[in-house]
Parts: sequence; structure tokens; C-alpha cells
Amino acid sequence: MKLHFFYAAVGLACFCSTVNAQNTKLTLDLTKPGTTVSPMLYGLMTEEINYAYDGGLYAELIRNRIFKNNPAKPDAWSLVSEGDAKAAIQLVGANPQNVPNAERGHAINDALTTCLKLTVEQPGTRAGIANSGFWGIPVKPATTYSASFYIKGAGQAPPPARGGNRPPQANAVPIPVIENNTAGPITVSLESNDGKTVYASGTINLEKTPYWKKYALKLTTQAGITPTKDAHFVISTNRTGLYYFNLVSLFPPTYGNRPNGSRTDLMQLLVDMKPAFLRFPGGNYLEGPYLADRFPWKTTLGPLEQRPGHPGSWGYRATDGLGLYEFLGWCEDAHMEPLLGVYAGYSLNGDHVDAGPLLEPYIEDALEEIEYIIGDAKTTVWGARRAKDGHPAPFKLHYVEVGNEDWFDKSGSYDGRFNQFRAAINKKYPQLKVISTIATKVYPTQRVTSGPPVDMEDEHYYQNSWQMQEDAFKYDNYDRTKGPKIFVGEWATREGSPTTNLISALGDAAFMTGMERNSDIVLMSCFAPLFVNVNPRNQATGEPAGMQWASDLIGHDALTSYGSPSYYVQTMFNNNIGNKVVPVSVSNLPMLHIDTAAINKTLAPQQRRGRQQKPERPSLYYVATKDSKTGTIYLKVVNVADHAENVTLDLKGAGAVASTGTLIELKGDKPESTNSITDPKHIVPVTTSLKGLGKSFSHSFSPYSVSIIKIKTTVGK
Ligand code: AHR
Repeated sequence: MKLHFFYAAVGLACFCSTVNAQNTKLTLDLTKPGTTVSPMLYGLMTEEINYAYDGGLYAELIRNRIFKNNPAKPDAWSLVSEGDAKAAIQLVGANPQNVPNAERGHAINDALTTCLKLTVEQPGTRAGIANSGFWGIPVKPATTYSASFYIKGAGQAPPPARGGNRPPQANAVPIPVIENNTAGPITVSLESNDGKTVYASGTINLEKTPYWKKYALKLTTQAGITPTKDAHFVISTNRTGLYYFNLVSLFPPTYGNRPNGSRTDLMQLLVDMKPAFLRFPGGNYLEGPYLADRFPWKTTLGPLEQRPGHPGSWGYRATDGLGLYEFLGWCEDAHMEPLLGVYAGYSLNGDHVDAGPLLEPYIEDALEEIEYIIGDAKTTVWGARRAKDGHPAPFKLHYVEVGNEDWFDKSGSYDGRFNQFRAAINKKYPQLKVISTIATKVYPTQRVTSGPPVDMEDEHYYQNSWQMQEDAFKYDNYDRTKGPKIFVGEWATREGSPTTNLISALGDAAFMTGMERNSDIVLMSCFAPLFVNVNPRNQATGEPAGMQWASDLIGHDALTSYGSPSYYVQTMFNNNIGNKVVPVSVSNLPMLHIDTAAINKTLAPQQRRGRQQKPERPSLYYVATKDSKTGTIYLKVVNVADHAENVTLDLKGAGAVASTGTLIELKGDKPESTNSITDPKHIVPVTTSLKGLGKSFSHSFSPYSVSIIKIKTTVGK
């Protein structure tokens, strides 16, 4: 027996030895009809986590644009005060109880109630406000940025609003009286952090009016500049006065030039995956910590002026700039269909609403949300609203999920809640499939037991690589007769941070061979989380990191982005798939012996619980599908061992086989090899042509590799 040092991944030392590795043969049985591959098998899961939207996919570059992030201070904003300037900035309206009456009259509307005041007693060289963006403002050559903001200028504080003739409060802040000359040019610029380089600049002419007014301008950078994120956005003046700012926005060009749209590089990465669907808006982000924090889809619609944002579920406030309408536009841009999660009366910290009359408003809200997506523009209220927002035609929608991870609801109320939602949705929209968040196999005691059989159940798996390898076979034994169908709505091999590494990608690929082989029952699946802003915590300022959840699919900072090895596995699998599963049998499958006791010591108790760890594990995982129109066979093989595996491949019942095929291979030399923001393409798939194919041929699968062999045959034509 040959001993191999297998892998030492993040927090997991694993010693394995090869048990047998002689004359391995995979036989693809092309004489059998094979089950149908679900056309919806691979999709995306998304939510506002790890600065996925704000500071991520949503292209807005200004952080804290409506000043609501922190009621104590204007996060991401700073004062610009140059020469002998005497100036100050102050958050107004965030803490109404702490400011005098006179400073409470600056709300633009119900959503924009907080603003930033710049007081310039003496302008010096210049005075103004600066925004540092989401860990920097990305500046690229020959690029036009769209800036806009609300501003009003005043020589002195406006008179107290109604009721303001009461005596000043004890804690009132004295309001400076300054000469009124705020009208005139205001400079807007993109500048380097050291202030030495102005990349782009323009002016607006501030009118002499005490009212809010929106100004917009374009800023274009020079062709020759080097791309950087060490830049900030500045609005400055050379005149005294009081200046109030709100909804300060800066957009680079967006994907497909959509207004209020998405970042181009991140969208391209998603489009390249060819996902079939998008599960949104969460995840925990759907539920919120408390009932009142759930995803507020109605206030995510319409002009940005009407979007107050909401607290979110991951420790930072969401702008809701990427709201329901934008989710749907995102789906259209990436040619995927939405899978809508509706809030089901349960929130993360345990708030729940029992089935019955108290649940009715939430059901009504979900029906209205569905109506917004697919309702007729002429005859329904919310369909008309969608048309007003810019999309008269209904969007596609076939799947609605009721809640998220409701197995956490220990009150046992999900059965009742699910059935009440399902009945209402089925009644109004019988064409929709309704998904339960509690899976029978995983939570048999909490599953939905009343009512008709559930259309589909959502299973979630976050595990290490060897657990995912073990689970490559779990669906082989699922009951085909009684159902239910499975949606693996969140899953990931969690090794590597911030994004997954090679051993994670191998675990993913092994698990995906199982889902693909069983895609008559596993109809849909999506890796999670999708994005992570990779900026670490700033030790000097205490500014928190971009990441709340490690082992993500795609990493980004303000300027660039990259796909993890797992990302490339997803892309490979989804771009190379047939419509029929080809049954595969194996002889002499090479096995790895695993020291489970050693692994167990490294695992947290919750990871150990309930797992019967098998000491032996295959080193190869495989699945084959064929395209019955073209005759192309897609054979996917994952080799998790540290050595090559030579395999004979027999195509039983094949007609003519082209002697040249294609190999798409992703591999690395170490389990912990990975991609990063500074080394984005360390592990990527490489495509080569493969000669010597026939009805029987052999291939040596590289150590630590995922291979797809595309074979042209006449079978199935
Ligand atoms: O994907 C991260 C989180 O994991 C999701 O928000 C939640 O549904 C799950 O627990």
C-alpha cells in the first residue's frame, strides 16, 4: 500500500492513503435511455452579505449616500478644509432628539430625512466634503462617471419649523450666522487620496434658493491614467455659507448601460456561468433579525429618492438601490429566471407570526410582490406599478419559496404558515411551484406534514471538502416514487477564505457529480454566498472588513474582481452539460483511506454531530451526460488524490466516436492553492484537444483535478 500525504486545508489536517489503484475502468452505458437532466439544475443564490450589492454588484460608488448608515457620525464622509479654511461637517436629522428644532427641517421626504451639513465660516483655499467609497473609489482611464446630489445653500440656518417658537432646548447647538453667498459654482472632483492628482473635475452652479435641488454632471477621466482605487470623491466650494447635502451619488458605466445598474466586471463573471435562475433576496437577508427588518420590497421600488434603505441582516445598512426591480433586471441581463423568496412570518432572532388571521397581511404582501413580477400591467395594481417603473411586460416566474431556513423556528409553526401561504399562492397563481424551506430528509421532525405533497424542498449544505465528497452519493438513494423534488438552495464547500480554494473546488465538483447524476430529483441548486468584498478590517481606523461569511464564490474590491476555483468549477459544469444522464459503472475504483479520528479532532462539535464518517473514500468522482441532439458526451471526472489516476474509458454501445475530443481541466499542485485579488488566475480551467479517443481509450486524470472530456459521437442522433 502506497502512502500519500493528502491535504492540509484551512483548519483541517487530513491524512489519507491509497487503498487500491489498479486498472480502474469507467463504462458509459450508451445503450440505456438515461434520465433527463433538469434544465434548471445550476443557478445563483444571492443576498446582501459581504457587501455583495452595496460595495459590490450594485455599481453605486458613494458609501452612505443618504447618511443613514450610522446615526452617530457620517461614516465614509470627511471634511475637506484647505489653506486657512474654517469649516466643519455635521450629520443633521439622524438623531432628532439631540439637535435643536431649527435643524430638524431638512428632510427632503419620508425617505431622505438625514443630511450632511457643511459649515464654511472661511473658505481658505477650499472647503468641502469627501467620500471614501467602499474601501476606495475606483478610477479608470477614459471613463465617464455620472455624479448627482441634492444640495441647498443658506447664509444662516432656516427659521424654526412649525412649533419652533418654543424656547430653545437645553441641549441646542448654537447655529452660526454666516454671510449668505452660497450661490455660485460648486466643484465636483475625483482625486487621489494624497490630494496630489485630480483625475476628473466639473462644476455645477448652485442656485440662490433655500430649497433642495438636484444637480447632475458627468466626470470624465483622461485616457492615460493608471487604474486605482486610492481615490475619493470631493464636492467643494470657495465661498462661505451653510451647505446641506443629500443623496450623493456617483456611478461608473454599468452593465448594458442600465440606469442604477450593475458593475460590469461582476456581471460578466455571472453571465459567463450561464445560470438558469437567481434565488433572491435571501437567505437571512429575506428574514431580517426581527420581523420589522425583513426585506421591504415595496420601499425598494421607484426613484432612489423614495428608498430609505433598511438595516439588513449582516451588520450593515442596505441602501436598497438594488431593489426588487433591479433584481428582475439583473435576471433579464443574465438570461436567468427569478426564484422569489417571500417573507413567511419568521425572522432570525425568533420573531414569528402563527398561522391564522395575524399571518394574513404577510400573505397579502407576498401575493402583491408576485403580482408586481407577473401581474398584468393593465388590470392589476402592482402590474401597473411595474409598468410605471419601466417594465410593462410581466417577468418570468415559476418558483416561489416560502421563507428561509425555517427549521430554525423552534415554535413548530412552519407547517401552518407554509400551508396558509401555499393555499393562497396556489389559488391565485396555480402555475407557480411553491418550495418549502424544510427538507424531509434533513429535518424529518419539522417538515411540512399537512396538505398535499410539497412541490420541492430546499436543502442547505455548508461542509468541508471530505464531507462534500461523501455527500456525492447521497441522492443516489433518494426515493423516486414519492418525491419530493429537491432544490439545493444553498451549499458550499467551506475551505479557504475569503474565497474557496482548490480542495473546496474539488469537494464542490464531487458533490456536483452527485447532483447532476440525480438531476431527475435534484431539479435546482445554487452555491452560496456568491460574492465577498475582500477588504480586510482596517486595524488603524477600526473599519470592519467587507466579509462576514468566509469561503465565497467571487471576490472583489473597488477596482477588480476574480473567480475562486469553485467559481470555475461552477462555470465548467454549467457550460458543459447534456440533456440526458448516461449511466456509468466502475470497476476497481481507487480508494483513499482517511484517518477519521484525526479529522474529528479538528471539527467543531456541530460538524461532527450525526455524521457516520466512512474511513474510506473514492479518489475519483464522475458523471456523464449526453446531448441527444448533437451526440456530444460530457464526461466529468474529479480526482481528489495527490497523484494521477489512469482510467480506461469504455463507451458501451457507442456509434462512431470522433478520434479528437476536448479536455477542459482545472488543477493545482496543492489543496490550498487558490485565486486572490492579487493573483486572480492562479487556478483556472485550461482547454486542450484530446487525441486518440475511440470506443475504448484511457486517460490519466491529473492530481487534484476536475476534468471534463467532450466526446463527439453519433449516439442519440
Ligand atoms: O449563505 C449565508 C447564510 O447561510 C444565509 O443567509 C442563510 O440562509 C444560511 O444560514
